[in-house]
Parts: sequence; C-alpha cells; structure tokens
Amino acid sequence: MKFESSTAKPKILVTRKVFPEHLAQLTERFDVMSNQEDISLAPSELASRLADKEGALVTGGDRIDETVLIAAANLRVVSSISVGHNHIDLAACTQHRVMATNTPDVLTETTADLAWALMMAAARRISESERWLRAGHWKRWSLDGFLGVDVHHSTLGILGMGRIGQAIARRARGFSMRTLYHNRSRLPSDVEDACAAQYVERDALFRHADHVMLVLPYSSENHHCVGSAELGCMKPGATLTNIARGGLIDEVALCKALRDGRIAAAGLDVFEGEPNVLPELLSVEHTALTPHIGSASRVTRDAMAQLAIDNLLEAFSGVRPRCLLNPETWRN
Ligand code: DGY
Repeated sequence: MKFESSTAKPKILVTRKVFPEHLAQLTERFDVMSNQEDISLAPSELASRLADKEGALVTGGDRIDETVLIAAANLRVVSSISVGHNHIDLAACTQHRVMATNTPDVLTETTADLAWALMMAAARRISESERWLRAGHWKRWSLDGFLGVDVHHSTLGILGMGRIGQAIARRARGFSMRTLYHNRSRLPSDVEDACAAQYVERDALFRHADHVMLVLPYSSENHHCVGSAELGCMKPGATLTNIARGGLIDEVALCKALRDGRIAAAGLDVFEGEPNVLPELLSVEHTALTPHIGSASRVTRDAMAQLAIDNLLEAFSGVRPRCLLNPETWRN
C-alpha cells in the first residue's frame, strides 16, 4: 500500500480518498498521511497508521475503538465524514480524551431523496424489471407485468424521526400519503404538524404502514430490531426500506419474508456485512439494492468532507468543534 506523507505541522491520517481540493486544504495546515488509493484499512493497519498521529479524518468504515485508541497515544481528534457514529466508541474516546466529531445536517435532504428513490424502486419493482429488460426477456407488453404496489395515498411508517426522518415525512405530502412515525421520544406538536406525521407505538407502525422506512441510528441495543416478529406483523403488500444501518435488520429473516411473499419488497442501501452482501439477499427478487449511497450527491459529499475538515481545523485551533459528539472532552 502506498501512503504519501508530507513537515512539522500536526500529523493527521486521512483514512480514505478525499477530493483533491480538500487534500490541498488539509496539507496547508497538517502533515498529512493520505490514502488516495482508497484502500480500506484493516483494524490493525488503522491502529499502526494512527500510532504517531494527532488527528484523523475517517469514514463510517473505520472502527475507532479501545484497541485503536490505545495504539494511538497522541490522538486528539477523530473527525468522521458521516452523520452516523456507531463506528466510534464515544465512551472510549472520552476516556482517552479524544474529541470525536461528525457531519450532521448537510446530508439530510440528499439522504431523504435516496430513501424515497429506494422505496419507490421497491414498490414499483424498478430494479427487478430493469434486470429483466437488460437480460433481453421483454417480448411484449402484459397487463399483469411487474405489478407493484402504490405509493400515492398509502400509509408511510417512519421508524426514527430525526432530521432525515422528518425530511422524508415532508416529501410524503406530495404523494397524498398518511404518515405515521415512531421515535424514542415524541416530537413537539409543531414539528409533527410541519411533517403532517402522527406518532404511533412501534407495533402499530409495523401493522398499519404500507411502506416502512428505517431511519434510526444503530447501536448494539437495537441490533436486529427488525426480525421475523416485526416482518410477520407487516401488511402482506408492504415494503421495507433501510437507509440507516444494516445491523438493524435480521437479513436472514428478511429473505424468508420476501421469498414467502410475507411482504412485497425491500429497498436497502445498507447491509450488515457491507461491503459484503448476504448472497441470499442478492438472489431474492423484489429488492432494490444500492451500495450505501444515501448521501452520495457531489454537492453533499463535498459539504460533508468540508464540514469534517472544519471540525478538525477548529479542534486544532483551540476552538470547540461545531459538531463535537463528546463535549466532556472540551476543556478551555
Ligand atoms: C452517514 O453519514 O452516516 C452515512 O451513512 C455514510 O456513512
């Protein structure tokens, strides 16, 4: 693996490829070890690369845990180009006095767009029918060809009603949908009104929604929170979309539910073992699968990277980083 190292400025590691203008910006302020070849770092490589670094610009695939933190004795800041931070052990960072930051807000609307694209692709069998067309199977139009389920005037169920969940809900108005949501805490009534969304218990959401969307942050507590029980009480024609984290769904149970026709379709942007996808999931029909591209528009990825750099620059300038996840580490 070729890593480039550049002087007596704070040493940082950039774990994955970044846009050239961002690399140039970082190089002005830091002694940068970058990975423009974009090779995923194994945990042991990450630990050894961080051994002499004071800062790190990481992504969701880089696990920052106790082992890495012990190896990285000089580390002061971990800035992640992601809103999700389940790959960072915040308690361990706090204990090692390492500031951790993320990139909320700038990706909200773009990610909500992708959630909609996936839900519609699943409901209207877009990926499946395109695969069939490309394979040369299309000989005639058929009245019963690729019958899907309607999105308009149906009921949307959003599990996790943070910023992205709310952005998804706002879009549902244009499709004359009824929107149900469940969240750890109920939203204030003015926010519910702005989203035209009704709070329901978790069970009711699975029972009543025609289209269920997972938009909640992942943690070990909600691992496989959608399994055979939840899938079993969904409507037979319902769809399930996941743009959050793969570990939320028991994928084996999902494959079974799809094969048995228990639910109509699934739209998945995230997978438990990504970038490896459960082979059974690849072979089951009625799915629309994308490779974790929720925030992947040029403008949004640019904004995420810039925000992550700003967090890093602030931390090294003695300014409290705007997206500090563990404020306990901030002492001035
Ligand atoms: C995020 O920002 O959390 C996206 O899922 C990319 O990791």
